[in-house]
Amino acid sequence: MNSQSLSVRDAILQRRSIKLFNGQPVDTQDILAIFEDAKWAPNHGNRQPWRVVLATGEGLEKLVSVIRDFVVPNWKELSDDEVAQKMLKFTTPGAIAFVIVPQDLRQKERLEDYAAASSFLQNSQLLAWDKGIGTCWKTPAWLDKPEFLSAVGVEAGERVISMLQFGYFDMIPKEKPKKAVDEFVTMFGEPQQ
Ligand SMILES: Cc1cc2nc3c(=O)[nH]c(=O)nc-3n(C[C@H](O)[C@H](O)[C@H](O)COP(=O)(O)O)c2cc1C
Repeated sequence: MNSQSLSVRDAILQRRSIKLFNGQPVDTQDILAIFEDAKWAPNHGNRQPWRVVLATGEGLEKLVSVIRDFVVPNWKELSDDEVAQKMLKFTTPGAIAFVIVPQDLRQKERLEDYAAASSFLQNSQLLAWDKGIGTCWKTPAWLDKPEFLSAVGVEAGERVISMLQFGYFDMIPKEKPKKAVDEFVTMFGEPQQ
């Protein structure tokens, strides 16, 4: 057996996207254990259409200097403190993963692969939450920039669908309002209101 403490329902209901991390490093083995379990996500044809570039420890420090060029392009003109302030969102997570999917030319397969990798991502977020590790799925515009793709080793025919930040946190954000079920469910065969 494993050491999971939350029920699936509790993990789903209690998880929040963490946007303010406290800078504590996250152990590489903890992230790999999360992916080991997250890989059981549903995916058509068992294609398992995801791969991950993971940055922790010294790799994370190197990654931050790559990201700095996109986030603070004029960083050379600023003081160290100013750059550090603007880079906080990237220096405080304890690990950063890029989730990459193949861009199948066939639309059906491409959408299936995106959906499957999204399931893998949500599994990862829930499993991390269960370990007390916060996550945030982010999609900054520079994920599509050729200079970034080349720095991270993304091949032609692949797409980065998420920068998944992992880290420890001191505060759980307040829940965001969600729609009531009857706002998004229509009962088949019943007259519309
Ligand atoms: C596809 C996708 C892209 C997202 N991109 C960003 C992003 O670029 N920046 C960000 O701060 N949050 C991003 N988020 C996280 C959402 O802001 C967050 O899930 C939403 O506000 C609901 O909050 P919750 O996850 O705590 O329920 C993204 C989430 C998804 C699923």
